Amino acid sequence: MTSIDSRRERVAKNWGLTDEIVIIRSGSLVPIDGTDMHYPYQPHPNFAYLAAVGVPDAVLTYDAQQNHWETFGPRATSDELVWEQSSQDLGIPVAELEKWIASRPNRKICEANTDLRLNQGIGEARIYKDEDELDDLRSAALTSRAGFDWVFANASVGMTEREIQVGMEAEFFKAGAPRTAYQSIVASGPNGAFLHFFYGQDDTLRPTSRSLEAGDMLLIDAGGQIGGYASDVTRSMVVGAKPTDTQDFLWHLIQRTQEVAIDRCRPGAEWREIHLESAKMIGSGLIELGLLKGDIDSLVSSGAVALFYPHGLGHLIGLAVHDSGGYQKSREPSSHPQLRYLRTDRVLGKGMITSVEPGVYFIEALLQDPENQHTFANEVNFELADDMKGFGGIRIEDDIHVTDNEPEILSSAIAKPLVINW
Ligand code: GLY
Ligand code: MN
Ligand code: MN
Repeated sequence: MTSIDSRRERVAKNWGLTDEIVIIRSGSLVPIDGTDMHYPYQPHPNFAYLAAVGVPDAVLTYDAQQNHWETFGPRATSDELVWEQSSQDLGIPVAELEKWIASRPNRKICEANTDLRLNQGIGEARIYKDEDELDDLRSAALTSRAGFDWVFANASVGMTEREIQVGMEAEFFKAGAPRTAYQSIVASGPNGAFLHFFYGQDDTLRPTSRSLEAGDMLLIDAGGQIGGYASDVTRSMVVGAKPTDTQDFLWHLIQRTQEVAIDRCRPGAEWREIHLESAKMIGSGLIELGLLKGDIDSLVSSGAVALFYPHGLGHLIGLAVHDSGGYQKSREPSSHPQLRYLRTDRVLGKGMITSVEPGVYFIEALLQDPENQHTFANEVNFELADDMKGFGGIRIEDDIHVTDNEPEILSSAIAKPLVINW
């Protein structure tokens, strides 16, 4: 049985349908308003997963009565062939879809990508990666390695964030990635305090033209994509100077926290617990530095630790960098301050891929907020936190394959230097 056959079998089993016709669309090109161009196309991951191809306007159908899958693909017109290279014809011409449906009268037609239950049925299958998917995920990690190796060798004082992005992404592409898995984050100095420091709503170019200064913390969160599968890696490093005691302390705190969390990525482990333990480790480090005061359990429950570590420990990875299936059935996002940004809340199982990405940040929007300063007056040393303005942040992220044995670190070949080019 091919991977595609077994994926389809698992999905059909999750659905448990008897009579419906299910439609799974690959998605269409999205026009950029006011131009004759389109946004770069990526197939809907549900379609890519079940068809192993990705062309716009293709459709996969499932006839539950016959337990039969069919693929429908577009055909280029002769005009289109003048302007664009044709892609290989896929399945039955999509123009025949209506006729195919009409030949199955009185059946309920369901769109899987928009039907919550059907979408979840595919999502639950996508959580557990097969060998073909693991091959792509491992290859994607190798493209990331090429980019990060370039950074370690070349990023130096005076270079701009933008120059680093361009040099690094060129290596992703040279190593075979057709595109990055998401917008690269290259954040130097104070910019590292923004969790997702990339091109925003305005027209500001990010990564920016800010030049690296000696002693800056440089946070890079980036990765290549192979076969649609993402690699998601973060390294934080001091550039061109001896790390200060605080940089050294916080970097090792995050590195140790990550090491402990990775070791706990085993079947049966409750992700939320691993996350909360990471918050306790980071919070305890902040107590040692004098930034937090009090009992670690109450500091986590009150949200004081979340001022410095506001995000979740990680998320599932696959055809989407934040992949489907994060929340186990019947679980809802929590309003607990240390849990509200958790992208995953489930018991880990063999075959899952999860990022493990603890971090610590000095975020002005949180630390200068008068309401926070009032609420946490007894728990946070805001004066000391103010001295950390401009520090930015530290995050270390790897992609972990949960197995019956030791966790496999897909990105383990990517070095983790505390300092570069000094
Ligand atoms: N690169 C986005 C993330 O780490 O979640
Ligand atoms: Mn991530
Ligand atoms: Mn990341």
